[in-house]
Amino acid sequence: MMNTPNISEHLRLASGRLQQCSESPRLDAEVLLAHVLSVPRSALITNGDAPLEGPLLAEFERLIAECQRGVPVAYLTGTREFWSLPLHVTPDVLVPRPETEELVELILARLPADRAASVLDLGTGSGAIALAIASERPLARVIGTDVSAAALDIAAGNASSLGLTNVEWRRGSWFDAVAQQRYDIIVSNPPYVASRDPALKALRNEPLVALASGPMGWEAFVAIIASAPLFLTNHGLLALEHGMGQAPALAAILRARGFRDISSHHDRSGHARVMLANFHASTEEPS
Ligand SMILES: C[S@@+](CC[C@H](N)C(=O)[O-])C[C@H]1O[C@@H](n2cnc3c(N)ncnc32)[C@H](O)[C@@H]1O
Repeated sequence: MMNTPNISEHLRLASGRLQQCSESPRLDAEVLLAHVLSVPRSALITNGDAPLEGPLLAEFERLIAECQRGVPVAYLTGTREFWSLPLHVTPDVLVPRPETEELVELILARLPADRAASVLDLGTGSGAIALAIASERPLARVIGTDVSAAALDIAAGNASSLGLTNVEWRRGSWFDAVAQQRYDIIVSNPPYVASRDPALKALRNEPLVALASGPMGWEAFVAIIASAPLFLTNHGLLALEHGMGQAPALAAILRARGFRDISSHHDRSGHARVMLANFHASTEEPS
């Protein structure tokens, strides 16, 4: 009689099925099985000999099939960790990316913990950036905005699960969401993929509004940079995540709008992905 395949064997088979569609097949298989069994991932190793069958196996198989169809693991488990914060995510929001943690890191380096400050996160999605900053800087007052009401519901739910009270949410297109007041820091990871970029196919399970804002890819930057001087304090910081290859165009747009101290920052793979710039009141046009 054949033995029932155990947890280790099912993980091996599932990792094989994910080879073609995942950069981390073994990890994804483990995360999904741990989710199905409601155990920490480490328990899969210590219980590798335990049998896996019946409805739990069927559910694991279903999730592996979804993953093979390109559905992000975070949507299947409903959770993604960002800046060590467990965030609830659904297909209404972009899955927060590790590169975006580098944007948070750069902002925190410029935001002293012992000073009150106002921070505006445009296009907040799951609330990842706003919540990371709010959690690290309790004296900061953070506002996260989005054009998507569904995204803001997710962000607000995340704030409440994390018990963060120094963050608020506003709905609207870019600066239309907020009153005409000035912020010390404006941050955004806006949609920056060109609307006909073939790369969008691989991202088809995430909301298009989070990925693309026009045919060129930098339309959202143009809109944000045009108005940012009207919403930044003197010497305020604008921090933008952008796509690979967009740094020169972005720097030119910032320079043309009078921003100074423009600096480009690389991700861990060596690609320029974040741009910081300061606003000096003397460069603002009279309104
Ligand atoms: C790339 S996602 C970033 C989400 C989140 N900040 C993160 O880093 O994970 C861009 C976000 O911008 C929002 N967005 C798109 N167009 C917008 C607009 N015109 N005004 C405000 N938010 C917008 C999308 O709904 C989406 O949540």
